Amino acid sequence: MKILVLHGPNLNLLGTREPDVYGSMTLNDINEKMVALGRELGAEVTCLQSNHEGALIDALHDARAWAAGVVFNPGGYTHTSVALRDAVSAIQTPVVEVHLSNVYAREEFRHTSLISAVCKGRVTGFGWRSYELGLRGLIDIIRT
Ligand code: DQA
Repeated sequence: MKILVLHGPNLNLLGTREPDVYGSMTLNDINEKMVALGRELGAEVTCLQSNHEGALIDALHDARAWAAGVVFNPGGYTHTSVALRDAVSAIQTPVVEVHLSNVYAREEFRHTSLISAVCKGRVTGFGWRSYELGLRGLIDIIRT
């Protein structure tokens, strides 16, 4: 089973970006944990990050050909991008939305997600463990 872990804008700065909000782990640390957890659960995890909406859309389209599912942190595009929502909706591949921070405890504009309704599920607020929980849930959904 192959899984794509896809990170959106500004997540390349994890570790130095607002560590009080996003934690001290770098993107590379999270990716290593996802690859290791995937291996433990019998899945091959590939990680990608882009700051560009179109590149994220391309990655979702490409995932149709090779991935059984996607763990996706759309970053700030969560709250604004109709195009990313349409991409998630257009592919048959199951997508789980994850966020490091608890978006509901933050500014009101973060309370809305254009992506959630077309995802299998959503995990928010558990720091890097949101990715872990999302990956476990996604693999369970694919297997059952
Ligand atoms: C985020 C939450 C978003 O509101 C924010 O724009 C991000 C990160 C999170 O993981 O908590 O870039 O997706």
